[in-house]
Amino acid sequence: MEDKGNKLSVYVPPGGPPSVTPSHEIYHLMGEHNIFKMLEEFYLELDKSPIRKMFPADMKEASKKSGAFFVFLCGGPPLYQQRFGAPMMRKRHLAFPIDETARQVWLSCFHKILESADKKFNFPMQHMAGFLNFLDKFSSWMVNEKT
Ligand code: HEM
Repeated sequence: MEDKGNKLSVYVPPGGPPSVTPSHEIYHLMGEHNIFKMLEEFYLELDKSPIRKMFPADMKEASKKSGAFFVFLCGGPPLYQQRFGAPMMRKRHLAFPIDETARQVWLSCFHKILESADKKFNFPMQHMAGFLNFLDKFSSWMVNEKT
């Protein structure tokens, strides 16, 4: 029978979920406000990108979910869990067709807004390499379609 893209055909990246997380000092050094500001700028960058159509109309509002998630990831309170429930990020992303090309666009938008992140968001640059490594690994785990 022809495969019409049912659940069985979802691509699962080898290696399973990543075990890396950003340094928990990041939240303490940046504070909640700066983390939300960073994610807001990231979503404004996504707004201009080729994967724009995947996202809801109101990007500022959409950025707040990711802001809440990154607050927790970076060592702050579990805002995402309190507001939206269990993260289950890979499961939540299955609703969107994410291939390696989409991942590269997503990553390049993040890389762009992280330029001079120390000045813009008070990002602690000593933790930038670990943060980038986390984005690389976690975004790989969100891929659910073969290019
Ligand atoms: C691999 C590239 C990725 C793409 C193309 C992508 C795309 C998307 C899309 C389309 C949404 C839904 C937007 C909405 O309806 O509000 C979303 C939601 C979200 N994404 Fe991603 N994403 C990617 C990777 C990541 C990564 C690596 C993280 C975190 C480290 C992340 C965190 C989130 C969060 C927290 C939400 C909100 C989930 C919810 O509560 O609905 N995403 N993403």
